[in-house]
Amino acid sequence: MMIEALLEVKGVTKRFGGFTALDGVDFLVRPGERVGLIGPNGSGKSTLVNCIAGTLRNEEGSIRFEGEDICGHAAHRRIRMGLARSFQIPKPFASMTVLDNLCVPLLYAARKHEKLAPGRIVEEAVRILELVGLAGRAHAMSGGLTQVDMRKLELARAMAAKPKLLISDEAMAGLSASEVDDILALLFGLKEQGVAVIMIEHVMRAVMKFSERIAVLVAGRKIADGDPQAVVGNAEVVKAYLGE
Ligand SMILES: Nc1ncnc2c1ncn2[C@@H]1O[C@H](COP(=O)(O)OP(=O)(O)OP(=O)(O)O)[C@@H](O)[C@H]1O
Ligand SMILES: [Mg+2]
Repeated sequence: MMIEALLEVKGVTKRFGGFTALDGVDFLVRPGERVGLIGPNGSGKSTLVNCIAGTLRNEEGSIRFEGEDICGHAAHRRIRMGLARSFQIPKPFASMTVLDNLCVPLLYAARKHEKLAPGRIVEEAVRILELVGLAGRAHAMSGGLTQVDMRKLELARAMAAKPKLLISDEAMAGLSASEVDDILALLFGLKEQGVAVIMIEHVMRAVMKFSERIAVLVAGRKIADGDPQAVVGNAEVVKAYLGE
């Protein structure tokens, strides 16, 4: 069977009590695609990520990954299917070393056919740390990392799951221009490995450079989705988001 969509979100609605955080959102990601997801603070971006990753349950709509309905699947099962995300607020085990923080997802999260023999876990962890530029910090305590290194570790932990889709939730917030470029290079590297990436970001320079397509959420509704230049030139988008 030909699979056109890697991720297919249809009509997803998420409420918190009487508040509707997501209102009938449709969103599609193709294999290996780089998609930007933007929108003002509180527009529902992280809530959508949480519904896709299984941290939250949507009340309405469907979410399919490689054609399979995953709405009933626990978060860890979705990770094993190849769906990884980084958290907006990094959640490493602070009292563990950087290296050990990577060994955890390598042991428990990696896709089934990617499972490593126990003896190869550390070797693979070191390889990923080299990839993200953290090899020199392997034995440092994670709690003491700088902000940019914390973000790199957060992405490394998501990469350790060998995902087909990685969702990066504001990995660049508060970083300097050169640190933003580091993270950008890292995410471009994933594309080279055939990994699809959803980049959620307020740093527009980075989103525009990275994205093949951009979707815009405003107050829980998707108001635009398409070619980056066209989307940021869209009057409704300018009014709701870029002009704020
Ligand atoms: N667990 C929750 N309980 C109640 N309300 C929530 C919860 N999570 C999010 N919300 C609300 O849902 C709305 C969307 O929040 P969300 O975190 O998805 O926004 P966001 O687009 O990621 O914003 P930001 O750019 O600031 O990260 C906000 O009004 C937020 O207060
Ligand atoms: Mg958010």
